Amino acid sequence: GGAQPANHDFWVDAAALDELPAEDVKGVQVEGLELALYRVGAEVFATDDLCTHAHARLCEGFLEGYEIECPLHQGRFDVRSGKAMCAPLIDDVRTYPVKIENGRVFVALD
Ligand code: FES
Repeated sequence: GGAQPANHDFWVDAAALDELPAEDVKGVQVEGLELALYRVGAEVFATDDLCTHAHARLCEGFLEGYEIECPLHQGRFDVRSGKAMCAPLIDDVRTYPVKIENGRVFVALD
Protein backbone atom coordinates (compact mmCIF):
# COMPACT_ATOMS: atom_id res chain seq x y z
CA GLY A 1 0.00 0.00 0.00
CA GLY A 2 1.49 3.29 -0.97
CA ALA A 3 0.86 6.77 0.20
CA GLN A 4 -0.46 9.01 -2.52
CA PRO A 5 1.97 11.69 -3.62
CA ALA A 6 0.88 15.15 -2.51
CA ASN A 7 0.25 16.42 -5.99
CA HIS A 8 -3.03 18.25 -5.43
CA ASP A 9 -1.18 21.54 -5.82
CA PHE A 10 0.14 21.89 -9.31
CA TRP A 11 2.38 24.95 -9.45
CA VAL A 12 2.75 26.56 -12.85
CA ASP A 13 5.04 29.42 -13.74
CA ALA A 14 2.65 32.25 -14.69
CA ALA A 15 4.79 35.37 -15.02
CA ALA A 16 7.90 37.18 -13.93
CA LEU A 17 7.19 39.38 -10.94
CA ASP A 18 8.83 42.23 -12.88
CA GLU A 19 6.14 41.97 -15.57
CA LEU A 20 3.38 42.79 -13.10
CA PRO A 21 2.76 46.49 -12.68
CA ALA A 22 2.45 47.65 -9.07
CA GLU A 23 -1.10 48.05 -7.71
CA ASP A 24 -2.52 46.84 -11.00
CA VAL A 25 -3.90 43.82 -12.81
CA LYS A 26 -2.49 41.89 -15.75
CA GLY A 27 -4.04 39.13 -17.82
CA VAL A 28 -1.99 35.99 -18.48
CA GLN A 29 -2.56 32.64 -20.13
CA VAL A 30 -1.50 29.64 -18.08
CA GLU A 31 -2.00 26.10 -19.38
CA GLY A 32 -4.84 27.33 -21.56
CA LEU A 33 -6.56 29.17 -18.71
CA GLU A 34 -7.11 32.91 -18.85
CA LEU A 35 -6.11 34.31 -15.47
CA ALA A 36 -5.87 37.76 -13.98
CA LEU A 37 -2.89 38.48 -11.72
CA TYR A 38 -3.13 41.29 -9.19
CA ARG A 39 -0.09 42.88 -7.59
CA VAL A 40 -0.94 44.52 -4.29
CA GLY A 41 2.07 45.69 -2.29
CA ALA A 42 4.42 42.73 -1.97
CA GLU A 43 1.64 40.22 -2.65
CA VAL A 44 0.20 38.72 -5.83
CA PHE A 45 -3.27 37.21 -6.19
CA ALA A 46 -4.79 35.24 -9.06
CA THR A 47 -8.36 34.76 -10.27
CA ASP A 48 -10.10 33.67 -13.42
CA ASP A 49 -9.95 36.55 -15.87
CA LEU A 50 -13.54 36.25 -17.00
CA CYS A 51 -16.14 38.05 -14.91
CA THR A 52 -18.84 35.77 -13.45
CA HIS A 53 -21.59 38.14 -14.59
CA ALA A 54 -21.15 38.51 -18.34
CA HIS A 55 -18.41 38.50 -20.92
CA ALA A 56 -15.84 40.95 -19.61
CA ARG A 57 -12.20 40.58 -18.69
CA LEU A 58 -11.18 41.58 -15.22
CA CYS A 59 -7.66 42.37 -16.50
CA GLU A 60 -9.25 45.33 -18.27
CA GLY A 61 -10.83 46.52 -15.03
CA PHE A 62 -9.60 48.77 -12.28
CA LEU A 63 -7.77 47.56 -9.21
CA GLU A 64 -8.24 49.58 -6.05
CA GLY A 65 -6.64 48.09 -2.96
CA TYR A 66 -7.79 44.47 -2.86
CA GLU A 67 -10.83 45.05 -5.07
CA ILE A 68 -11.04 44.63 -8.82
CA GLU A 69 -13.81 46.53 -10.54
CA CYS A 70 -15.21 44.92 -13.67
CA PRO A 71 -14.97 47.24 -16.68
CA LEU A 72 -18.43 46.35 -17.99
CA HIS A 73 -20.93 46.90 -15.16
CA GLN A 74 -18.63 47.95 -12.32
CA GLY A 75 -19.16 44.83 -10.22
CA ARG A 76 -16.36 44.35 -7.68
CA PHE A 77 -14.58 41.25 -6.41
CA ASP A 78 -12.18 40.92 -3.50
CA VAL A 79 -9.09 39.49 -5.22
CA ARG A 80 -8.00 37.66 -2.04
CA SER A 81 -11.13 35.53 -1.74
CA GLY A 82 -12.84 36.01 -5.09
CA LYS A 83 -15.90 37.16 -3.18
CA ALA A 84 -18.47 39.15 -5.13
CA MET A 85 -18.77 42.45 -3.23
CA CYS A 86 -21.66 44.24 -4.92
CA ALA A 87 -24.39 44.15 -7.53
CA PRO A 88 -24.77 43.10 -10.26
CA LEU A 89 -22.46 40.25 -9.23
CA ILE A 90 -23.96 37.15 -7.67
CA ASP A 91 -21.30 34.50 -8.13
CA ASP A 92 -17.82 34.71 -6.68
CA VAL A 93 -14.89 34.41 -9.07
CA ARG A 94 -12.50 31.49 -8.73
CA THR A 95 -9.17 32.20 -7.05
CA TYR A 96 -5.88 30.30 -7.29
CA PRO A 97 -3.08 30.01 -4.74
CA VAL A 98 0.01 32.02 -5.65
CA LYS A 99 3.63 31.77 -4.55
CA ILE A 100 6.57 33.94 -5.52
CA GLU A 101 9.96 32.26 -5.92
CA ASN A 102 13.16 33.61 -7.43
CA GLY A 103 11.33 36.51 -9.02
CA ARG A 104 8.75 34.25 -10.69
CA VAL A 105 5.05 34.04 -9.90
CA PHE A 106 3.63 30.51 -9.65
CA VAL A 107 -0.06 29.68 -9.64
CA ALA A 108 -1.48 26.41 -8.31
CA LEU A 109 -3.87 24.75 -10.73
CA ASP A 110 -5.64 21.51 -9.94
FE1 FES B 1 -18.65 42.08 -14.89
FE2 FES B 1 -21.19 42.66 -15.56
S1 FES B 1 -19.68 41.65 -16.74
S2 FES B 1 -20.12 43.15 -13.73
